[in-house]
Amino acid sequence: MGLAKRLAALAAYVPAGGVVADIGTDHAYLPIFLIEAGISKKVIASDLRPGPLESATRAVEERHLKDRIDLRLGDGLQTLGPGEAEVLVLAGIGGNTIKEILAAKPDVLKSVNRLIMQPMADAGDLRIWLAGNGWKIISERLINEDGRLYQIVVAEPGRELFDDELYLELGPRLIERRDPLLNVYLGRIIDQYERALNGVAAGKNNAAREKARRLKAKLERVREVAKRCL
Ligand SMILES: C[S@@+](CC[C@H](N)C(=O)[O-])C[C@H]1O[C@@H](n2cnc3c(N)ncnc32)[C@H](O)[C@@H]1O
Repeated sequence: MGLAKRLAALAAYVPAGGVVADIGTDHAYLPIFLIEAGISKKVIASDLRPGPLESATRAVEERHLKDRIDLRLGDGLQTLGPGEAEVLVLAGIGGNTIKEILAAKPDVLKSVNRLIMQPMADAGDLRIWLAGNGWKIISERLINEDGRLYQIVVAEPGRELFDDELYLELGPRLIERRDPLLNVYLGRIIDQYERALNGVAAGKNNAAREKARRLKAKLERVREVAKRCL
């Protein structure tokens, strides 16, 4: 089975062997690929909603993989027992939702030795949470698929040491490694801050002025990082 660029990049971070749980599996493309490529022997594929789980079930049955892909319905890690999976994939879900999913089940998280994440938004919040909760970001990568930029964040138990929270927020491994798409990524972040600043700059009350001041300061710092990196 061919796999989209983003999913293929996620699969490349899955160590061979061991049990993987794909949380928010939707169509189950990743679990099917992991089994068919011989990377994983067993995958737990779980989703919050019955609709996606039904499409996952159909895809898994069509490929006769029911004995290798365990389909489960439920919220986040509620579908897992402690020690069931060593690797978790959480892709295509908002960064703050990923954070909440992880924080809700510390007993399950205890036996996990790798998190492979692709937050759709709020990746900075997720990175800050990871660093504050005993996870070290071991690798990061940007993927451009159909003009959309995706961030992959891989973490393992450990200490994330950082001097400047802004680097952590933006992606410390992306910056250190000078990801080939770093200029596009930082350019888009700068655009977002500029747009947000234009939106509040028109405000006349104290709260709007304070928000504009904070946004401006942040924008300047991101511009400095971009200048230093590129
Ligand atoms: C955009 S799809 C991503 C599918 C696949 N992981 C990928 O990256 O292509 C997001 C999926 O996450 C599921 N989801 C959202 N919140 C969830 C939660 N708290 N627990 C489990 N699944 C969740 C949704 O139902 C949906 O099927």
